[in-house]
Amino acid sequence: MASSPLADQVAELLDKTGPLAVVQAGDPVLRQRAAPYDGQFGDDLLARLILRMRETMEGIKGAVGLAAPQVGLPLGLAVLATPEALADRLIQAGQQPVPFTVLVNPSYRAVGRGRVGSYEGCLSVSGWQAVVARPDRIRLTRQDETGRHLVEEYAGIGARIVQHETDHLSGTLYLDSAELRSFSTTEQVVRRWGAAGPAAAAEQLGFSLP
Ligand code: CO
Repeated sequence: MASSPLADQVAELLDKTGPLAVVQAGDPVLRQRAAPYDGQFGDDLLARLILRMRETMEGIKGAVGLAAPQVGLPLGLAVLATPEALADRLIQAGQQPVPFTVLVNPSYRAVGRGRVGSYEGCLSVSGWQAVVARPDRIRLTRQDETGRHLVEEYAGIGARIVQHETDHLSGTLYLDSAELRSFSTTEQVVRRWGAAGPAAAAEQLGFSLP
């Protein structure tokens, strides 16, 4: 197979061992529209990239998703999962844990008009969180790692993670639609709004929720 610049970039990235470096806001790769994956490199390289992205995500406490641009690749690929350690807490909060999922060339549309505001963070905006109002139910169109086309509905935390990761692939960060007055360090969110939730934050910081 003739090698593409993207394939060379992936091979170079995978040459180094250990977790992949996560780029931070300000890097233009986070603002590019990612190229769809259309077989620019072979299944073997794709599988190895997905594995390394998974290991990188799982190695970061609290991480629920990682998109290829966050490791410097302008490519339509993301991985997501809620950590095992969070499963019980999610179920207690009425949420469905999300199994490990690979998004290849994803896109989504809102289902219905329901919107919900919740604190959200991003590995590329390290140390900070803000409230984003998003559709609470979406229809996701994606391919999986084998190229199979799938259409699925997501609600709750799954819908939020899928939207956040898919947005990365069009050069969008959660900050672009965040309530700026909600902007808080992760430490403040945990200390003040972890149990009280976004409604208390909205009242005390002065922003609105849907
Ligand atoms: Co992110």
